[in-house]
Amino acid sequence: MQKTDATASIAALRETLARHDALYYGEAAPVITDAQYDALKRQLSDLEAAYPLFAGVPAAAGVGDDRRPGFVQVAHSEPMLSLDNAYSFEELQAFEKRLQGALGQLPTYCVEPKVDGVAVSCVYQKGQLLRVVTRGNGLEGDDVTLNLLHLPKIQRIAAPFDYLELRGEVYLLQSDFERINQEREEDGLTPFANARNLAAGSLKLLDPKAAQKRSLKLLFYGLGACSEQAWETQEAFLTTLKAWELPVNEPFFVVQGLAEAWKVIEQLDVLRHTLPYGTDGAVLKLNERAFQKQLGATAKAPRWAIAYKFAPSQAQTRLHAITLQVGRTGVVTPVAQLEPVVLDGSRIVRATLHNADEIARKDIRVGDWVVLEKAGEVIPAIVSVVLERRQPDTPAFVFPKNCPSCEGALTRLPQEVAWRCLNATCPAQVRRRLEHFASRQAMDIKHLGEAVIALLVERSGVGDFADIYALTPQDLLCLPQFKERAVQNLLEAIEASRQAPLWRVVHGLGIPLVGATMAKELVSALGSMAILRQADVPTLSRLPGVGPLGAASIVHFFASPANQELLDRLEALGVGTQHSPPAHPQNPLAGKRFVLTGTLQALTRAEACERLEALGARVVATLSSKVDYLVVGQDPGSKYAKAKELGICIWDEEQLLAALGEEF
Ligand code: IVH
Repeated sequence: MQKTDATASIAALRETLARHDALYYGEAAPVITDAQYDALKRQLSDLEAAYPLFAGVPAAAGVGDDRRPGFVQVAHSEPMLSLDNAYSFEELQAFEKRLQGALGQLPTYCVEPKVDGVAVSCVYQKGQLLRVVTRGNGLEGDDVTLNLLHLPKIQRIAAPFDYLELRGEVYLLQSDFERINQEREEDGLTPFANARNLAAGSLKLLDPKAAQKRSLKLLFYGLGACSEQAWETQEAFLTTLKAWELPVNEPFFVVQGLAEAWKVIEQLDVLRHTLPYGTDGAVLKLNERAFQKQLGATAKAPRWAIAYKFAPSQAQTRLHAITLQVGRTGVVTPVAQLEPVVLDGSRIVRATLHNADEIARKDIRVGDWVVLEKAGEVIPAIVSVVLERRQPDTPAFVFPKNCPSCEGALTRLPQEVAWRCLNATCPAQVRRRLEHFASRQAMDIKHLGEAVIALLVERSGVGDFADIYALTPQDLLCLPQFKERAVQNLLEAIEASRQAPLWRVVHGLGIPLVGATMAKELVSALGSMAILRQADVPTLSRLPGVGPLGAASIVHFFASPANQELLDRLEALGVGTQHSPPAHPQNPLAGKRFVLTGTLQALTRAEACERLEALGARVVATLSSKVDYLVVGQDPGSKYAKAKELGICIWDEEQLLAALGEEF
């Protein structure tokens, strides 16, 4: 592979993964299976390993990010990692081989069910719960303590230690999930797709009373930081928690070697259908803590544990219709409208069919019985047609020739699988573009969701981003259900978004291939929209994380007179006019790697990261000899000693602020 191809593929994979991370962790609404996600991750790490020189700096540590505005962010004393996944016995064998190689003996495992919920860390001081924090980005998470006050057993525990962090999973009983969804449907609200998404959404409600009504449950499976050397094995740890009357992942089994562990996994795969909550796999952990410490962890996951994901569940149902959904770039995606069916506890009425080729390859026809498959908690997919149940005269599906929204002719561009509507003023595309622009990942305009955008496009003639900023109270007051309060809220939110950082505007434009990460790179390298609008392919290709494909897409976007005109109008309305000084190579922090530890006083960790990154520095999770500075806040934990050992430059907060040009 050529350098340019490798760089572009690496950048594209990182971008894709970042998008799926945002959907999974941020939105609790994943669109691909864990297996598909892991396959993408593997492709990326293979490419990074094969072309280390072209790989640049990875975008994220790899555990996603569930932090939400509105919560207080708290640093974890020890990073909250994720788990590597295995989907076959062979992958578990490879895991065992690695363990045996390192330990020189057959491992003893603790095998536990993998409950399907949201990871949290419960921090105790002398047995009193101080706070519950979500995983966040692995280094710091959201304080969600108030949302779990309805769980009396976890508030005060029999732990005799000064400091103890218990790691666990917040989840919902299947029966609560069904009850809540039924209530929502009765209230005319959209039901949640599955229990995991509902648990994640409930944990992140900003109203603790509403959250507590969702009947969230919690069980524990692991140990974070602890002031004492308390347990020698995972089994002893779980047994103690049970003695303290705390809920743990049960049943757990201690076994020798994979042959025995596999029998337990098979039992758990049967047992899971009788459990009152969802489990999507089994976790194999080295039982001995001394061995766990010996093996350590990567940036994403411990080397001493692995999650085996159960084979996906399947169900059959009828395909009533195939409808077309138009995306913001005009790509038309076929969607299967199904006879409702319950699969692994979720009620399924729709499934994506991806593209015309996929329909043709599987020969899916309207009226067919189809096999639906669902792995873990993701959106289900149609894997095949039940040919024996097909009526003899069922016609093959003919992909429509016209856009369902504007009726313009659909086109298939060379080398693309997708059909596209090329009419840039197609109302469906306009709606999708506005939804993306206003979304939390881009301009983050509150009160401007799908329903309001649909009204604005249909009734107020809003056709592009600039029109949003020209809206007047009169334009809104004539919309159905828009009272003065709603009008004021929306206009204030639109006004506030004028101050959004420039990268949000760049991301919001929806330039193909330009996600949030690339938008940040562009802004930090070029500094203003005016420069970005003029930039040529060679200049852009040289920027980290952009590559030739990204560069070509950006130049193509700005070459359009309609887009230039749109940007002129936005500029005249004061949107995207900020100048942020480009991160200059002579800036002393540019290119330096930082690790933050302990609690900072003047800045939150997220602010510190943002400010350092704005100066071209990188903030990473793990201390290694490649790190240039460790910034130490209060209660720093073990990183301080390790940094000394490695000879890394250690700063206190005052030094950090001085480097950022701030007074303490
Ligand atoms: S151990 C260092 N044990 O699955 C990470 N995790 O996909 C240790 N989970 O982040 C995790 N049941 O949120 C562990 N018995 C169990 C689990 C479990 C569910 C979750 C947890 C973890 C995720 C990884």
